[in-house]
Amino acid sequence: MWVLRCRGWEISENQVTPEWVVLSRRTILAGAAGLIAAPAPGAVSGQSARAVRNPKYKTDHPLSAEQDVTRYNNYYEFGSNKIIWKEAQELKQRPWAVRIEGLVKQPRTLDIDDLLKRVSPEERVYRHRCVEAWAMIVPWTGFPLAELLRIAEPLGSAKYVAFETAADKSMPELRQSWYPWPYTEGLTIEEAQNELAFLSTGIYGKPMPPQNGGPLRLTVPWKYGFKSGKSVVRIIFTERRPKTFWSELQANEYGFWANVNPAVPHPRWSQATERLLTTDERVPTKIFNGYAEYVAALYTDKQGEKLFV
Ligand code: MTE
Repeated sequence: MWVLRCRGWEISENQVTPEWVVLSRRTILAGAAGLIAAPAPGAVSGQSARAVRNPKYKTDHPLSAEQDVTRYNNYYEFGSNKIIWKEAQELKQRPWAVRIEGLVKQPRTLDIDDLLKRVSPEERVYRHRCVEAWAMIVPWTGFPLAELLRIAEPLGSAKYVAFETAADKSMPELRQSWYPWPYTEGLTIEEAQNELAFLSTGIYGKPMPPQNGGPLRLTVPWKYGFKSGKSVVRIIFTERRPKTFWSELQANEYGFWANVNPAVPHPRWSQATERLLTTDERVPTKIFNGYAEYVAALYTDKQGEKLFV
């Protein structure tokens, strides 16, 4: 993975996100009469519902500028430098199917828009921390991963859930055959059920741009960003720990757990501090990226594991 090269974009007006945002393709609830829902750009159903910001999840810094979040990306399928947003526009986001399989009651394929009708959209402002020691504050729109688990109905024998992401002809770097494509990530079932685990469908009140992982992207804010697979196409429930893209490449640097910890350096650099995009501020890294109260208990019985690499 590449180490950060500094960029000093100015704070834009886009840094300020309204209290409410519009996204998703759900029918407006009858009780919401009187509210004016702006149409989601690219909406296909013609009707939209608001994704209201969940006030429970707060951060100690202002939002990063939208332009930074959408133009400084890691998406190796489109290139290994950060400026891939133009190339990523080639990724066609509709129709989009998500296959659910493995240890589930009934394997099935869900159309993304049908899936979105079955979940409740909300906005969450989360810290997003890359293993390369840069960080952003992002307003994500989406729904709790636990809701997907409810729909998927995993069997009791399922211990892990893997997220396989798109590998299609729009992605020039799939030619690089030494990478273990498709990009795959995984969580334990308990991690997936944690209230923070989120499937994101948008940012800044707009549908998720392809460079950020549209139309469906995992968001697990207590872990390094590489755990958050972009453009998910397959969700597989397994009994054994799934192989993951980065741990296949370099397990000693990018392990399965990858929980944020300032005290555990990456083998090639410190994780003690991080650089916030937009302001360029360098701030102390927080254990579990500031989310210890939500997730620390997941790991009390796993002390023998390399939890922070
Ligand atoms: N998902 C896919 N499919 N391909 C990738 O290269 N990069 C990961 C993660 N998800 C990646 C991916 C890494 S290393 C990070 S830090 C985050 O996406 C970056 O997300 P962002 O570009 O939205 O900030």
